[in-house]
Amino acid sequence: MLRSILLLLAFPVLRCSLAKMAEMKEMKALTYGVITTILLSSAVFALVEDLDDTFKDNRMDDVWLVDFYAPWCGYCKKLEPIWYEVGAELKNSGSPVRVGKMDATAYSGMASEFGVRGYPTIKLLKGELAYNYKGPRTKDDIIEFANRVAGPSVRSLPSRQMFEHVLKRHNVLFVYIGGESLLKEKYIDVASELIVYTYFFSASEDIIPEQYVTLSELPCVVVFKDGTYFTYDEYEDGSLASWVNRERFQGYLQIDGFTLYELGETGKLVAIAVIDEKVSTEESLRLKSLIQRVSTEYRDNFYRDFQFGHMDGNDYINSLIMGEVAVPSVIVLNTSNEQYFLPSEPMESLEQLISFIRSVLDGTAQAYGGDGFFHRLKRVAYDARSTIMSVFRSSPVLACFLFGLPLGVISLMCYGICTAESDDDVELIKQEGQTDEEDEEEDEDVRRHLAAQLKGPGEGDEIEELEEKSAAEKKLD
Ligand SMILES: *[C@@H]1O[C@H](CO)[C@@H](O)[C@H](O)[C@H]1NC(C)=O
Repeated sequence: MLRSILLLLAFPVLRCSLAKMAEMKEMKALTYGVITTILLSSAVFALVEDLDDTFKDNRMDDVWLVDFYAPWCGYCKKLEPIWYEVGAELKNSGSPVRVGKMDATAYSGMASEFGVRGYPTIKLLKGELAYNYKGPRTKDDIIEFANRVAGPSVRSLPSRQMFEHVLKRHNVLFVYIGGESLLKEKYIDVASELIVYTYFFSASEDIIPEQYVTLSELPCVVVFKDGTYFTYDEYEDGSLASWVNRERFQGYLQIDGFTLYELGETGKLVAIAVIDEKVSTEESLRLKSLIQRVSTEYRDNFYRDFQFGHMDGNDYINSLIMGEVAVPSVIVLNTSNEQYFLPSEPMESLEQLISFIRSVLDGTAQAYGGDGFFHRLKRVAYDARSTIMSVFRSSPVLACFLFGLPLGVISLMCYGICTAESDDDVELIKQEGQTDEEDEEEDEDVRRHLAAQLKGPGEGDEIEELEEKSAAEKKLD
């Protein structure tokens, strides 16, 4: 717990809350993980290679997917059974990617050479390049990542059918259209870096059917999404990399914690309809469609600064803003500085939503939250509280033991300190008493306190023993 609190201090809100969410599920997954690992490790051990010192010299000929783990880390244990499944599936599907795991604490020198800073770190190593995996730690997501990044960063589309096929498969599709050019070199550069996020294709002009695109200039880079396409314009859009980064999401998204985390890297503001998908009231459908309409009808006005979408339930947002948002409602988050904006009145019309969004952009809307010192402090307290509550919810007995024991120790210590203080008082009184008249009653008091002092050491021993126990508890934790 202390570890997570320290982490929370150091990183911005979005990242933290993710870690926290993962931690809440950790308990359950741990048990599951250990059991599955025992079952699986004997069967498919060879599919995940245990890496050591020799890895650095031997790895260059292959593409590697490596889990850098620490034996004591809970997230790592949770990942382990999934990792064996990833190894098995990649092998079975004939992928050239080799799957390994390395104890980053045992080979810390090598781990730091690979830039491992937390556990577990998942990296795909391809020659000189190392790609970090930051998505959800599920088998399918990890395998999709491995296949995407291990392949060529720009995939060429040899035929019309192929183009139509990938267009159907991907929600967002970047295509370079044209022959060799300076722009293509740039495109390949950008793709080799941003392949961690999305797919990049290239095609010659005659491959792309006219019903999809009318191109004014060649060569060009086009993104197909939201049932239409947008062309990169060097003068208007800035660098190709920043344009790709802005355009790699659909205009309107179903947003969850991971999406929000990814969106953080675009620095955009995120306008979200917070709704409950299980009880889709008229109000929530209306808010959703208002946001949807802004994302399409006002794309040109806002797409540079805004991402639009909806989120199911307010749990995630609540922990993010450390408050309570109504469901359904509209909220705008600034992913760069952790501020958020709430409309001052209920959203009735598109015009109201537009003027709210404009007021956020021009700075007249009231901003809440932020990443200042005060809010970081609040974050620590908030996360500590919700961690404790989540442990209570998942296993009350363990929680009573974990938190009750130190609490007991602390109260005993307080008691000890208090009685010690009153002893001092008594000593003072005694000294004063010596100079003043001596009172029988005061004498009685002194005697009682002396008796208490004699008992003192015994109590102290008990506290030490308890403390030792709780320290052992912490180690177990
Ligand atoms: C969002 O945060 C960034 C970084 O602090 C800041 O530059 C930008 O002005 C903020 N946007 C709004 C609309 O407040």
